Amino acid sequence: MPLSDCKLIQLPTVHDRRGNLSFIEGGRHVPFAIERVYYLYDVPGGAERGGHAHKALQQLIIAMSGSFDVILDDGMEKQRFHLNRSYQGLYVCPMIWREIDNFSSGSVCMVLASNLYDEKDYFRDYEGFLAALGKNV
Ligand code: TYD
Repeated sequence: MPLSDCKLIQLPTVHDRRGNLSFIEGGRHVPFAIERVYYLYDVPGGAERGGHAHKALQQLIIAMSGSFDVILDDGMEKQRFHLNRSYQGLYVCPMIWREIDNFSSGSVCMVLASNLYDEKDYFRDYEGFLAALGKNV
């Protein structure tokens, strides 16, 4: 799927003197039913996560706290997104190579996912990912 299908989604926010509130409803604010939630935290400085693509999984990535960069690659072009707002999510469609780096101290990366964890859904090898896209490696 092309990189242009991946996009930043603004989440609804209720502003309040007592603090702000954002919410996400599966199928409404994200274009899939949410089957799984996972999060990265206690990430040491300089660490990189990701380094894989998914065959079918759709995801929404949110910086719940702090900031980090998500680099998306559809085999043709790459784009770097800096996430630092808990009311913004980055929608990642299937067949996109994804890396995450530049984590700030204490950051939390939450991912809403369209399917349960399934190792068979991963491409963990970049050449294998390109080959599946029909690209010469
Ligand atoms: P991985 O997806 O490679 O993490 P990252 O993209 O952050 O580098 O997963 C790391 C490990 O955690 C791997 O052994 C699989 C396991 N895991 C689960 O058991 N369930 C999950 O929902 C996820 C995302 C990972």
